[in-house]
Amino acid sequence: MRCSSCLVAAGLLLCALATSAQSAPKPAPLVAATPPMGWNSWNFFAEKVTEQDIKNAADQMVATGMRDAGYVYINIDDTWEGERDAQGILHTNSKFPDMKGLADYVHARGLKLGIYSGPGAKTCAGYTASLGHEEQDAKMYADWGVDYLKYDLCSFREDVMYPKALHDRPEQARLMIAAYAKMGKAIQSTGKPIVYSLCQYGWDSVWEWGASVGGNLWRTTGDVEANWPSIAMILNAQAGLADYSGPGHWNDPDMLEVGNGDLSLDENRAHFSMWAMLAAPLLAGNDLPHMKPEIKAILTNKEVIALDQDPLGKQARRVYVDGEVELWTRPLANGDTALAVLNHGPERVATHPFHLPLASLGLHAGPAKNLWTGAMIALAENMPVEIARHDVLLVRIPAK
Ligand code: GLA
Repeated sequence: MRCSSCLVAAGLLLCALATSAQSAPKPAPLVAATPPMGWNSWNFFAEKVTEQDIKNAADQMVATGMRDAGYVYINIDDTWEGERDAQGILHTNSKFPDMKGLADYVHARGLKLGIYSGPGAKTCAGYTASLGHEEQDAKMYADWGVDYLKYDLCSFREDVMYPKALHDRPEQARLMIAAYAKMGKAIQSTGKPIVYSLCQYGWDSVWEWGASVGGNLWRTTGDVEANWPSIAMILNAQAGLADYSGPGHWNDPDMLEVGNGDLSLDENRAHFSMWAMLAAPLLAGNDLPHMKPEIKAILTNKEVIALDQDPLGKQARRVYVDGEVELWTRPLANGDTALAVLNHGPERVATHPFHLPLASLGLHAGPAKNLWTGAMIALAENMPVEIARHDVLLVRIPAK
């Protein structure tokens, strides 16, 4: 009798535990657990982008294999906005006749849709932004099925920061942070897992407060351009920011220029390599319907993408500089280490010559995989390396 009541009691206890485990709410999946990957209209189309360009981009993401390589967001940047009506509802302009239909089109291809606004009255291109309509806009994006919002400071300075606090920098920063927090809260209130991308060019050390306002990524600098000096300058500005980046909240050195402008093949490869080392969001910005095979090969290199998307989410640190040569390393989830040797200089580095220090950087000699050629190479202490101008040696060193 005692024994069976014991069993009943134990059963009830187990049952109660099981029930409470079942009813405990599952934690929501982390938004942007790895750096967001996709494509954004600005770097190639700028103000000219239309609904058809977005549809073409979505089709090309699928046809080129980019979607299957991990690029899922199709992000409309500035210039989709029309005017607000008497109820404050923001309408699209004639270039984007049916945003809900466009979201459906993108979703039907296994992709996600991103949109753009800002905390001021106007966007950077002078279109209508969200000042005073934050909740209303966030709800509308969610109703359309938008999955990603880039929120760009632009006229908030002239509309709010300067009129309220022209000579008070700390107060200006407070106003700006509050504006980003307001939209962060509005997005969260929709209950949808919308990626929140802060774009205010790295002002007021955004990496220190971006996550606290709900940001999943934040631009760390001004706009990237499709030339090597711009890419090198932005890369240089990322040194020292590694501690601020991680799953759910990433430093954003701006979108990719791979395939744009006059970047050489080496420069395209180095740009992509270094953004992968930085665990940067990988938002392509090229003309997808006319993408050359060698550009596609860069953007879809599986092992370089795996580096960027490594679940540990540790951004690379610059660990060594010798003239034009820089070494960046990052630890990876399986114990491997990624090493990038970058030649910033105008000449091939054999002239230097550059000898690879391993032990002093805590790296070990032995086999490593060259992520661009796919070949195993033997790393040796002080081995001479030769790297073309604006190119990179990118290797994955297995755990010892
Ligand atoms: C700013 C941003 C760019 C782009 C433009 C659009 O310059 O930094 O990335 O969004 O605005 O007007």
